[in-house]
Amino acid sequence: MTRPDGAAVRVAVMISGAGSNMAALIDAGKAAGAPYEVVLVLSNDPEAGGLAIARAKGVAAVAIDHKPFGKDRAAHEAVVQSELEAAGVEVIALAGYMRLLTPFLVNRWEGRMLNIHPSLLPKYPGLDTHARAIAAGDDQAGCSVHLVTEGVDEGPILAQGRVPVLSDDTPQSLAQRVLQIEHDLYPRALADHCRRIRNL
Ligand code: GRF
Repeated sequence: MTRPDGAAVRVAVMISGAGSNMAALIDAGKAAGAPYEVVLVLSNDPEAGGLAIARAKGVAAVAIDHKPFGKDRAAHEAVVQSELEAAGVEVIALAGYMRLLTPFLVNRWEGRMLNIHPSLLPKYPGLDTHARAIAAGDDQAGCSVHLVTEGVDEGPILAQGRVPVLSDDTPQSLAQRVLQIEHDLYPRALADHCRRIRNL
């Protein structure tokens, strides 16, 4: 994907909820000279709060509800794929997207789909990461930006951020501290990845 024109890489952010990472990604992509621009926000949940935030920031935001598709994940993903293609998307950033993806989408976007996970991978893939870090007595926690592969939270790690775990932390207080650094880490990791892709 060589871009001799120097144009920004077209990014879609996929969400299911509040979209605080999505907002940080949109804002960073608007900065002068940013190597990417968020052109589309997609949610599998029509109620996701992030949809209105994206629209308020001038970004097209579309809900593709997974419920009518029942267990047919690939059929849902086929509609998602059509939206991505229609918007000329080149890179996907998952940001609190709570659906497991099938090989249908993962393989099409190999090397061009990123995720942020709230743990220091390979520790604590899956859910309840902060409670697990506290229960294990870890003195550090954090977040990881990684490429998405078929295994959940298993792809190559692109960047990590760390925070201390405090003696009086609850999963909620630790989640809040980690989320703050997610908002800094994810835009930087996405920008670095888009620069790499563009210069290939
Ligand atoms: C973040 O903690 C992210 O690491 C995880 O889901 C959460 C999404 O939060 N994958 P938000 O919707 O970006 O506020």
